[in-house]
Amino acid sequence: MNRFLSGRFDVDTDPQVERFTASLHFDHLLFSEDVEGSLAHVDALWEADLLNEEEASTLKKGLKELHQEVQEEIKKGEFKLNFADEDIHMHLERRLTEKVGDTGGKLHTGRSRNDQVALDLHLYLKKEIGEIDALLEDFQKTIIDLAEKNLEVIMPGYTHLQRAQPVLFSHHIMAYFWMLQRDRERLEGVKDRTDLMPLGAGALAGSGFNLNRSRVARELGFSRLYENSMDAVSDRDYLVEFLSFSSTNMMHLSRLCEELVLWCSSEFNFIELDQSHTTGSSLMPQKKNPDVAELVRGKTGRVYGTLIGVLTLLKGLPLTYNKDLQEDKEGLFDTVETVKQSLYLCKEMLKGARLNRKKMEQAVENDFSGATELADYLVRKGLPFREAHHIIGALVSYCEKKNLSLKELNQEQLLQFHHALDLDEISELLFPLSSVSAKKLRGGTAPEAVREQIKEARRCMQNKETFTADK
Ligand code: ARG
Repeated sequence: MNRFLSGRFDVDTDPQVERFTASLHFDHLLFSEDVEGSLAHVDALWEADLLNEEEASTLKKGLKELHQEVQEEIKKGEFKLNFADEDIHMHLERRLTEKVGDTGGKLHTGRSRNDQVALDLHLYLKKEIGEIDALLEDFQKTIIDLAEKNLEVIMPGYTHLQRAQPVLFSHHIMAYFWMLQRDRERLEGVKDRTDLMPLGAGALAGSGFNLNRSRVARELGFSRLYENSMDAVSDRDYLVEFLSFSSTNMMHLSRLCEELVLWCSSEFNFIELDQSHTTGSSLMPQKKNPDVAELVRGKTGRVYGTLIGVLTLLKGLPLTYNKDLQEDKEGLFDTVETVKQSLYLCKEMLKGARLNRKKMEQAVENDFSGATELADYLVRKGLPFREAHHIIGALVSYCEKKNLSLKELNQEQLLQFHHALDLDEISELLFPLSSVSAKKLRGGTAPEAVREQIKEARRCMQNKETFTADK
């Protein structure tokens, strides 16, 4: 049994219970944040005359040494999981007391593990949000680079996974830029609601000691305080929001990965992934599998699972702290790692991919993706769009029956469908580049529109905002 708690109990805890209730094997990840929070708490205790100067410096020196030791132990794989300590908070306090003697017993004055663990999680998530945002930004830069390098490469655009209209590859890939931009805006909101300092809430009711919460907040880099101690120890909204951000971000990566898997198949053959991002088959010597892309797609499922898990965990909890809340951590830590690795690897995979420009362009040469162009052409000749749509639909059906492409039709055949269909004008329109170049409207796939889009993307990255309607 943990000796700090032994006053109340006559019998030892059942070892199975000790093992079952412990969180040290995963929450030791929070050791830095725990020490950081304790250092600020020591300052608050000192300012409130609950510690004298000597005691404060003894505790601080001890905490810093302890931090070094634990860091080394974890690095070397020598960190001992003593389940009697229950969690990282008790573990550090026990070791601090062993190190500095009775003064160690003063550290927990005016504090509970309930506000302590809340503080640690806030500190942890704020730091991780910063790292994830930097990864998102890097990814966006990679997308812009790729779009600029391949600005005029044409490929089929799809709806229903059927060739629909030709688009620029740069336009296609820039769609992911905007998804990531919205992800970053969402993350900014999560950061804002994580930026709240819970210490001083005690177990649930606040503290009778005169602890300067604002000073603690300032020292730890928080801009706001929880205004309600009961909310402070119960709130996990910021985790739910972070997991929701993560789920959306993984969904975006998963869609990109799905496209990469398709594009590097022999059926599409639009891109080739770098060998360093693929793996072989143990049986089939010819295989080069896009495992990274597949795993990102697969891992998206477990991130969703964690979001639903934490929401379910919270839904029946009465105020305030309940031990159930200890279950918030493993999935969170796993999600942070998964998102970070996925962002990094997807970016690297894109960077290393070679585009098979010829294959992409061939794919738009002899299909019917110019049909909308022909319908628009008839509209410009004065026909209502619905009628034009019907005429060109019949034309496509005719071509299919005769096994012809639109480009292979002669003037005589065209006239059977409408007298305004002029072969010379139409031949011009049926070049994929003409179709693409016509989509000049802001947000469209014409090269100059994509150039403008990239300019706007750069501007948004600097200002962290997506939408300016009047520009
Ligand atoms: N290990 C606990 C957690 O992760 C810390 C808080 C425990 N508080 C308590 N009163 N048992 O949530």
